[in-house]
Amino acid sequence: MYRPNFHFTPKKGWMNDPNGMFYANGYYHLFYQYYPDGNKWGPMHWGHATSKDLVKWEEQPIAIYPDNDKYIFSGSAVVDINNTSGLGTGKTAPIVAIYTLHDMTKEKENKIDVEQQDIAYSNDNGFTWQKFKEGNPVVKNPGIRDFRDPKATWDETRKQWILVLAAQDRSQFYKSKDLKNWEYLSDFGKNIGAHGGVWECPDFFPIKVKGTNETKWVLIQSLNPGGANGGSGTQYFIGDFDGTTFTLESNFAKRTAREKAVWIDYGKDNYAGVTWNNVPVADGRRLFIGWMSNWEYAQDVPTFAWRSSTTIAREIQLIKKGNDYSLISNPVKEINKYVSKTIKEKSLKGKGKLSIVEAGKIDLTQAIVNFNLKNLKPDTYTFTLSNAIGESLTFGLNNSDHYLFLDRSKAGKNDFSEKFASTITKAALEGNQKEGVFKIILDKTSIELFYNNGEKVITEIFFTNQPFTSLSVSSNEGVELSDLVINQLNIN
Ligand code: FRU
Repeated sequence: MYRPNFHFTPKKGWMNDPNGMFYANGYYHLFYQYYPDGNKWGPMHWGHATSKDLVKWEEQPIAIYPDNDKYIFSGSAVVDINNTSGLGTGKTAPIVAIYTLHDMTKEKENKIDVEQQDIAYSNDNGFTWQKFKEGNPVVKNPGIRDFRDPKATWDETRKQWILVLAAQDRSQFYKSKDLKNWEYLSDFGKNIGAHGGVWECPDFFPIKVKGTNETKWVLIQSLNPGGANGGSGTQYFIGDFDGTTFTLESNFAKRTAREKAVWIDYGKDNYAGVTWNNVPVADGRRLFIGWMSNWEYAQDVPTFAWRSSTTIAREIQLIKKGNDYSLISNPVKEINKYVSKTIKEKSLKGKGKLSIVEAGKIDLTQAIVNFNLKNLKPDTYTFTLSNAIGESLTFGLNNSDHYLFLDRSKAGKNDFSEKFASTITKAALEGNQKEGVFKIILDKTSIELFYNNGEKVITEIFFTNQPFTSLSVSSNEGVELSDLVINQLNIN
């Protein structure tokens, strides 16, 4: 009953982090931490799904299996176009996955060297895989207990492979010519950014500043706990990479110090997200997907045959405003192909409670709602999603204290965890807002809110007992909405 309409979920079993995403031969591949035989975390496999458009996913057979007590943890995959690894057979480029092998026996014995990095490869464009038995591990454990989640990327400037992995309280960089022999380069982050928990699932890539030819390097770094609004969260850093060391850009360094951390998402349910490798150059997008849950309650949410879904796939861009660089994220444009009906209202203006969507007018379990909030006062603008049995979810903009908020405490079932809805999620905004542009993606059990073209994002799940059917807005001083466009989606 709580299965989303269009976000990816495995048919049965437990899922966490997205892994090993790449594009090849017409398909976007998505692998994920997967336990097929239960609905809580267990012996980790790499599950697999494919999509032609990043929106509609098709589950595939399990890609990589654990060997008894040696679990297959998170990692990445690259398309080795020049067969630098020598693992190819000549017909198609080999795909090489690099992941953490986690030894449960050593964990139980309280050993330190529990985690190492192994590779597996595919010679059929990513559908079937073999472990590189003769050469694993490719990165040995150096004496660090939490040493995992390798993300490999091609560094075109220096014609080398780069690897970033999470080493407890920092990210570590390695380089390689052949994906099999890795040389340690440097560390980043020991005393920088958020450190409320263990660092996990990094990503590291170059990206052009939107509309320019300037390139910066981005480090995405998840951590758990210690996220923006509690539990699991994903921060990012912007800087330069000289082939050995990652150095924060000076204004970004100041911003990190001021805000403690800069987050890719302020909601509670976007964790361990990383980006696709090998997206065609002609496309050029940096594409991201996250796990839409949080370790605070992921194993307790009220779904049974299956657990967890991914976020909508997003395009990440780097923008520069004044001297400040930041990432913006927005849903991939492919979702617009699935719009089956559009309702446009030029504007909506008035006092009291204004109805944006009346019950029955549109199916709010698969919809995109866009609008601009105009002529903002130092007031609070509250949007309410509701249904016939009195459940509601509120979100909006507090323009007196300058933050976005989301409150799911009345949005249906939440008694499975004290952590789920006990606090209101907030995302601080820089000062007084004159106008706010909202894009909201609604599924049956999730909301993804993109503010000002993705400058601030809030992603959260909920478990209403009936779907939301209406949306309204209110504020003390009156509301003015323009460019209201409601798109009904028909994805499945
Ligand atoms: C993050 C994480 C990773 C690890 C995986 C295990 O959610 O803890 O660090 O590789 O999950 O499933």
